[in-house]
Amino acid sequence: MAFVSEENITDLALERWATSHSPRMAELMTTLVRHIHDYAREVELTSDEWVTAIEWLTEVGQISDDKRQEFILASDVVGLSMLVVQLNNRFDDTATPATVLGPFHIDGSPPAPYGFDMSDGIEGTPLFVTGRVIDTEGTPIPGAILDVWQADATGTYEAQIPDIDEARLRAKYAATDDGTYCVRTIAPLGYTIPMDGPVGMLMRNTDISEYRPAHIHFMFDEPGHRKLITHLFQHGTDYLDTDVVFGVKDELIVEFSPHSAGKAPDGTHLDRPFLVAHHDFVLQRAK
Ligand code: BEZ
Ligand code: FE
Repeated sequence: MAFVSEENITDLALERWATSHSPRMAELMTTLVRHIHDYAREVELTSDEWVTAIEWLTEVGQISDDKRQEFILASDVVGLSMLVVQLNNRFDDTATPATVLGPFHIDGSPPAPYGFDMSDGIEGTPLFVTGRVIDTEGTPIPGAILDVWQADATGTYEAQIPDIDEARLRAKYAATDDGTYCVRTIAPLGYTIPMDGPVGMLMRNTDISEYRPAHIHFMFDEPGHRKLITHLFQHGTDYLDTDVVFGVKDELIVEFSPHSAGKAPDGTHLDRPFLVAHHDFVLQRAK
């Protein structure tokens, strides 16, 4: 057996990890070993830098719990989350594109009928989001479920509030028989990702903007169609070009059109101005 040298260490490690019991794990691990060895060689990694990196990774783990996932955040800000989304969601050009899930989705949101106000009692400008859920052949998907969630006007998600016992700015809307949906909420604002942990500490040493542009999250999981996790972004809002998690796509930017007090898209009468956004979600038919 060859003992280790700077020249042969990579081959020795590759040989070991090639013994992984599943072929896919062998591929994942040997490729990882090759890339991290190349990285260390390319930057001539110093021992101090390696210790600093280990300490940073330790903090990322220590600050994470069932409500906060700093590893996901780290993956988001280096563009890895969005790259994985792109690799796994190669839809037809006509389909609504996917984007990052983010750390704030909560399972099991309450069912909501057409026009339900998921912002009841929360300050903000009323916003109606309407349109249809159709498939890539243009066929409406009757009763499609839109799992919707967003932050409030201070950029806070329900998942970030301790001990809350009812759904806040999240609901599962059912589309009607012709695939039409109507979400009533408040206009979201841009917000900053959590900057009080090791990811924020790293970013403060750069010129990277920590903001996400104003958006609402949507998730669809309809039988016979590819699962879709996406957002809608407000046209003209700040940070569209610099979204810290690389989540913006042209097709997902929609106008929030101002309306004066009067009849709203759900048929009710509003005594103050409101906004209306229109978007047809197009789900990729499963092949
Ligand atoms: C979000 O939009 O909820 C989000 C996505 C990635 C990182 C932080 C927040
Ligand atoms: Fe968000």
